[in-house]
Amino acid sequence: MPMERTLISQTPEKVGQEVLLKGWIKVKRDHGKVTFLDLRDRTGVVQVVATKLKEAAKLRPEWVVEIKGLVKERPEKLVNPKLATGRVEVEAKEINILARAAELPFDMGAETLKISLPVLLDYRPLTLRHARVQAIFKVEETIIAAFREALKKEDFVEIQVPTIVPSATEGGAQVFPVKYFDYDAFLAQSPQLYKQIMTGVFERVFTVAHAYRAEPSVTTRHLTEYVGLDAEMAFIDSFEEIMNMVEKVIRFIFARVETENRAELALFGASLPKLSQRIPRIKMREAQQIIFERTGRDHRAEPDLDPEDEREISRYALEKFGSELIFVTHYPTKKRPFYTYPDPQDPEYTCSFDLIGRGLEWVTGSQRINDYDMLLAHIKKWGNRPEDFEIYLQAFKYGMPPEGGFCLGAERITMQILGLENIREASLFPRDMERIDFRLPKKEKK
Ligand code: 4AD
Repeated sequence: MPMERTLISQTPEKVGQEVLLKGWIKVKRDHGKVTFLDLRDRTGVVQVVATKLKEAAKLRPEWVVEIKGLVKERPEKLVNPKLATGRVEVEAKEINILARAAELPFDMGAETLKISLPVLLDYRPLTLRHARVQAIFKVEETIIAAFREALKKEDFVEIQVPTIVPSATEGGAQVFPVKYFDYDAFLAQSPQLYKQIMTGVFERVFTVAHAYRAEPSVTTRHLTEYVGLDAEMAFIDSFEEIMNMVEKVIRFIFARVETENRAELALFGASLPKLSQRIPRIKMREAQQIIFERTGRDHRAEPDLDPEDEREISRYALEKFGSELIFVTHYPTKKRPFYTYPDPQDPEYTCSFDLIGRGLEWVTGSQRINDYDMLLAHIKKWGNRPEDFEIYLQAFKYGMPPEGGFCLGAERITMQILGLENIREASLFPRDMERIDFRLPKKEKK
């Protein structure tokens, strides 16, 4: 009978026992006849001591091995408090090499990788193995799982929607065309139209969906492919209800990350954003007035907040309300997608909101137009062809309740919780106008 594998995190409970470990060599230190190895598996790192074992001398970082050995308590003065397994070490009896690795292009043993962002992304299969990089995706996993759990508790149904679509939803310019046999199609900018249609079926739906934006510039907060945490709910009385739902979901996500990702947060010295009793809500025009009064920057006639405005309004929210998150509401009708419900009190503005967190937009949401004639008129007014929206319009033709929803960018929230400088760090294999897996070769401008 082959020996059963012990996971590295279990080694402290196995003092005095012989174990079989499997993993990667993280670091190797030679001291004459004794070789010290840091062995890594999915649960952590443990020190292995190999004395007079000839295989040990051959090993290099990232080689994959199985090691049979004896778990021993370390003498008090050699305990490593930085390591969860730091009370023990494993005395190797037998080393079996499962796979070799090429020489590494940089040191993977350091606590923080000392490489530039392009190199971090050029060597993604390797750099993703680093503990600090892994931690980002553990946090992201918690966020997405918590989003699902929070909405299921509220009676939302999870749906899957297509990403090959016949029309742009969020504005025409930022859409990727797809050659679809002999026809034109696009990559979905958002699951927007399908989640709306589905409120006519299940009333409350959500989806974790890939969205594609032909962002023509390289910024620290835009990807060309990102993950949207989208939700949509019917029978609302006002768009305030959607913000209430966003608030509930965000609080639930924060609580989950707090309890499940203590170690990961600690690696980044990060803490969850502070929230006041209720996340403050102000109108966009009020925000512009406040920014003007605080800084002298007069953006009061602008149709949107720019990145510096978003940072300033975040500073204001923290100082005035003790909240690192703030809702900004009532964006101008002209600047919002065709489906956004105009404010009945002032149709120049919409029943819409953004949630700004730590200086960056996390969420966009709104009430939607549910009247068929009004929707049709908006589609035309926004320069679209109604025939491209036939399936969507059909839902409204046959009766749709007042409804609305929101989308939370998964990479944005991860980035802002951990204090990452660039959104690319929060995407496993980020895409931007200069990269699809690898850096795209520069093209001559035609
Ligand atoms: O603000 P956006 O474009 O809104 C929509 O897509 C609507 N359909 C949402 C709705 O339900 N009304 O995108 C929503 C969120 C943003 O707040 C941001 O977090 C994220 O998606 N996002 C991006 N994340 C990374 N890279 C990009 N290029 C992003 N564009 C939007």
